[in-house]
Amino acid sequence: MKKVDVILGLQWGDEGKGKVVDVLTPRYEVVARFQGGPNAGHTLEFDGEKYVLRSIPSGIFQGGKTNIIGNGVVLDAILFRAEAEELAKSGHDLTRQLCISKKAHLILPTHRILDAAYEAAKGSAKIGTTGKGIGPTYTDKVSRNGMRVGDLLSPDFRAIYAAAKARHEAILRSLGYAYDIAELEAQWFDAVEYLKRFRIIDSEYFVNGALDEGRSVLAEGAQGTLLDVDFGSYPFVTSSNTVCAGVCTGLGVAPRRIGEVFGIFKAYCTRVGSGPFPTELFDETGDRLCTLGHEFGAVTGRKRRCGWLDMVALKYSIMINGVTQLIMMKSDVMNDFETIKVATAYRIDGRLTEEFPYETAAEIEPVYTELEGWRCDLRSCRRYDEFPEAFRRYVEFIERETGVPVKIISVGPDRDETIVR
Ligand code: GDP
Ligand code: IMO
Ligand code: MG
Repeated sequence: MKKVDVILGLQWGDEGKGKVVDVLTPRYEVVARFQGGPNAGHTLEFDGEKYVLRSIPSGIFQGGKTNIIGNGVVLDAILFRAEAEELAKSGHDLTRQLCISKKAHLILPTHRILDAAYEAAKGSAKIGTTGKGIGPTYTDKVSRNGMRVGDLLSPDFRAIYAAAKARHEAILRSLGYAYDIAELEAQWFDAVEYLKRFRIIDSEYFVNGALDEGRSVLAEGAQGTLLDVDFGSYPFVTSSNTVCAGVCTGLGVAPRRIGEVFGIFKAYCTRVGSGPFPTELFDETGDRLCTLGHEFGAVTGRKRRCGWLDMVALKYSIMINGVTQLIMMKSDVMNDFETIKVATAYRIDGRLTEEFPYETAAEIEPVYTELEGWRCDLRSCRRYDEFPEAFRRYVEFIERETGVPVKIISVGPDRDETIVR
């Protein structure tokens, strides 16, 4: 029985999912996004060009594959149009390669404004969202007030929109939040007409049908496990299930149809937005990771917070997702480091633990294991046995700690800078 393989982030997002999906796509016939929305920024580099995708799956550049925006995704017609037109300019015919689920929810202009208004109302407890309306759109979905892509095809479309807008405006008035929506709304109505040019499908039938016919499917996660609404560092999370279970609800595939689970992580850690980050570095080393790793958000341009690899969090993410293979990214960023630290336990209130705690706001003191740096350039390595011994020790340490093999190692942003073991 063909199964859906899954690739998802094990940290706080931006692990390099876009790059690896692009690298793995030749093995698959269908690539599907199952959650999240344009809060994602997935970067791909090849042939000297760089692309950032937000809602469109990262399989789009490997010709002839079907790419699906699944029902679990929330879609902003305006941002989708900008993204699709940009790709069309570089010669990609998306109308043939891309399908959108009827059941994906639409981000309305007022959702974006609500996102800003709720953040403003939180004062110093801000989540630091991407401001793309993600939370309010998922809130409407769950409260059964959402508008879906399939509604665009309904004769009642304008009435459904007007009812949603009226509801949102009442909330904005109660929050005393000033806004001007006219221009955004005009753009949105144009953009939904553009959206209708794409194949709007029952993606659950498409995906299951593809599997029945023996075609291979790769599910592409957005964000990361520690931003999952159930298992992340709540409330500093996104509003979807970023974990493997999200593939079942976000594409309509049964749990027994999940195959390989590729868990992707950086050789260190980053986080953008607020919330706990036990191994965060506030010193020169943190700045070095940020500078050498170009750690600025692909969507918002915000500086990413940086720190050492956190094995407690990594093992937690591996457990939640049932990861079968690990993929380590951005190893090259630490090329010049003399020593490298990895947190292997936390000390909380004087007590040692290897579990990711419920109360992440508590003072967590990471307990570090120190490893020797490799102090050489990994970017030219193309085979595992070309890596220096100290680097191989780092990889094997992670494998020993997690019990999961590291099957792919990335040593640079380009498609070619990837070692598959
Ligand atoms: P995603 O959201 O998980 O797809 O990751 P992002 O694209 O937001 O962030 C990852 C960043 O790291 C991008 O700028 C990539 O081009 C870059 N990148 C990916 N892999 C590597 C790598 O192995 N080394 C280096 N130096 N950069 C990488
Ligand atoms: P990719 O797919 C990193 C973070 C935001 C914020 C929190 C909630 O590129 O890895 P939201 O707008 O979702 O309500 O914001 O989640 N966040 C991300 N951080 N990478 C992402 O996506 C993210 N998407 C959301 O910074 O802290
Ligand atoms: Mg990103």
